Amino acid sequence: MKGWCWLLCLLCGIQMGRGQALIPCPVDVKALPQEEYVFGDKVVIALLSEGLENEAEELRQVVKDRTGREPEIVRSGKMPNGAVCLKLDAGLSETERYELTVNSSNVCIAGKTAAGVFYGIQTFDQLLAENGGNTVCTAVGGVRITDSPRFGYRALMLDPARHFIPLEEVKRFIDLMARFKFNVLQLHLTDDQGWRIEIKAYPDLTGKGAYRNPQGGMNGPDNGYYTQEELKELVAYAARKHVEIVPELDIPGHTAAAIHAYPHLGCLRGDSVPLVLGKSTDRMLCAAEEGTYEFYDKVIGEVSRLFPSRRIHLGGDEAVMEKNWGVCPRCRALMERQGFRKTDELMGYFFERIEKTVKRNDKEMLLWCELDNIRMPAERFLFDYPKDCTLFTWRMGLTPRTIELTARAGIKLIASPGEYCYFDYPQWKGDLPEFNNWGMPLLPLRQAYAFDPGYGLPPEEQGHIIGVAGLLWGEAMADMNRITYMAFPRALALAEAGWSRMENRDWESFKNRMYPLLADLMRKGVSFRVPFEVSGSH
Ligand code: ACM
Ligand code: ZN
Repeated sequence: MKGWCWLLCLLCGIQMGRGQALIPCPVDVKALPQEEYVFGDKVVIALLSEGLENEAEELRQVVKDRTGREPEIVRSGKMPNGAVCLKLDAGLSETERYELTVNSSNVCIAGKTAAGVFYGIQTFDQLLAENGGNTVCTAVGGVRITDSPRFGYRALMLDPARHFIPLEEVKRFIDLMARFKFNVLQLHLTDDQGWRIEIKAYPDLTGKGAYRNPQGGMNGPDNGYYTQEELKELVAYAARKHVEIVPELDIPGHTAAAIHAYPHLGCLRGDSVPLVLGKSTDRMLCAAEEGTYEFYDKVIGEVSRLFPSRRIHLGGDEAVMEKNWGVCPRCRALMERQGFRKTDELMGYFFERIEKTVKRNDKEMLLWCELDNIRMPAERFLFDYPKDCTLFTWRMGLTPRTIELTARAGIKLIASPGEYCYFDYPQWKGDLPEFNNWGMPLLPLRQAYAFDPGYGLPPEEQGHIIGVAGLLWGEAMADMNRITYMAFPRALALAEAGWSRMENRDWESFKNRMYPLLADLMRKGVSFRVPFEVSGSH
């Protein structure tokens, strides 16, 4: 298909029929050619189980948006003729599993849990989009779909530390995530460029660390932070969309904003580089300063109480150890007392102490995995990570080795390799100078789609991989339009990598299923990159 033709299809919407425009691709789709569900003037949503009020509301919105009708929600002991029914079915095998049947009598969405029902509704929404094209949907072709995810952890990460993202825009992003069955939003809340979460014990973290541009406004992109009340509201909003929010506080590197606000947290370095909020990217927390541990004890306590997720991400990446711990007299003295010969042994010490706080708050620690082999011979591999942390594989080209080493160490892994999951990388050469001029590799859609989180390994060698994460690092993304432009359509490819079985995935099929969904994003006013290069004209 030529580029212009592709665009025409995109604009017209392609009538694809019965479940052929679904992303992520379900486990099983059976067309029921003799059947068709026709929306009557009055649409009834029947709740056959308790505890699905939230899902009924989600479905009400879907039906209203797609058909223009205002449905009535009723409770019912059985499936009323003509109704769209929601029910829990404890007999289904996995937590997020759902079954969706559309026939001439009614529509039934059953899930083992409310999450399963919610995902059935998202699939139903895509069926309505597929059947409705650019106009309202009046009928849906008969189909039976059974579905469940490959991975339980399907994340996207936003980075309000680099450019602050107003709360309402984060909510709109959560809406988009849920449509494609992502279930975790990681919020990178602290970095060199800003501290974006209110901490009651340390008001200067936001008082000083959230304002890097004196002339900027209070609501981004340089300045701003989330109050604890706002974050509670966001957590509750996300929960309704079955999205868990995992907070990230990046330590011990990426901490210039914290040290800017509370200078005692930093190493006493041998140089005289001034600490400028947003500019000095190589400042680190002092591993020998007791105040560091007391400080993060309080911070992690407050953060843990705000976010119900059992996980907290604490960074651990790109620590410039030699420039900080290697020259700091207090860190050097600590190394001597501990009998350490290399500065990176302090990393194990640091996270062992931090982990005590994490455990006391009943959380599990997530960290970016740094392989020691970046500079070291292969026999030294992982740092001494705590056994029950979960690591993220991210550095370009190192994932196969990381999968092997974490399996050996008994550590769980989330796959976010640079070559497939870094959605801040440009999507095509020449596209958007602020991304291309940054010296980053290309990550075209075709490549994003080629991602197999298990790297084709036998099941016993990839059993410790619990999911995927797509990362939208924010250095060059100053607003939500840029964020969604970078996210889509690559996030559709990742949604499929996280949810669908490899045997059901196919690039040509994905491209066809993608067009109507991109048209739908366009109708909703979501900015995305049109992937002209995949249409055959390049
Ligand atoms: C990272 O990209 N620094 C995890
Ligand atoms: Zn130090």
